[in-house]
Amino acid sequence: MFFVRTASERDLPKVSALLAETWHATYDALYGPDKVSEITAKWHSVPALTEKLKRKHAEFVVADDGRVLAGMGYAALSKADPKVAVLHQLYVLPQYQRQGVGRDLFAELETCFPDARVMRLEVEPKNTAAIAFYEAHGFARAGETADCGDGRSGIPALILEKPLG
Ligand SMILES: CC(C)(COP(=O)(O)OP(=O)(O)OC[C@H]1O[C@@H](n2cnc3c(N)ncnc32)[C@H](O)[C@@H]1OP(=O)(O)O)[C@@H](O)C(=O)NCCC(=O)NCCS
Repeated sequence: MFFVRTASERDLPKVSALLAETWHATYDALYGPDKVSEITAKWHSVPALTEKLKRKHAEFVVADDGRVLAGMGYAALSKADPKVAVLHQLYVLPQYQRQGVGRDLFAELETCFPDARVMRLEVEPKNTAAIAFYEAHGFARAGETADCGDGRSGIPALILEKPLG
């Protein structure tokens, strides 16, 4: 039985490993393993995750059963528009997917930003499983970007939004 709690610095090596494994399982077929290794080394290193953990107006949660971390989620208020909460990451290890862990992580994150009007995220257009998950949780397509995640990633993404409150 997994419970959702706020992440601490002690969790970050496990979260980093979880992200590397889940990213390879999700994206190797789309971007190739080398590109995935390059991105995951940059975005999911312990120092990069430490920065996220310290950011204000942000929530970093993990699903824990006392032994294993099965999933993680990270959302933060947009710096450009504080009425927008951005769901930056939601990842569940492949062997624990489709067991309600993602739903529980998301349920926690969507209650954390009472002053935001909308939750926004970017998703790979070919990631049909994630899109199905988000549509099942009230998100709808709001646009697209050519540079998912950071300014020059070159990774296209759909932008999905869910009204909050
Ligand atoms: C997408 C993800 C976060 C969903 O988490 P999860 O724990 O697997 O999903 P849940 O078990 O909580 O699913 C809840 C509901 O979402 C929908 N859903 C989830 N996965 C789905 C899939 N593969 N296909 C269709 N619907 C799906 C279903 O409605 C499901 O309810 P049901 O199982 O009762 O039918 C998880 O599968 C994951 O980490 N995938 C790989 C990484 C990824 O793509 N992350 C998102 C990046 S933007």
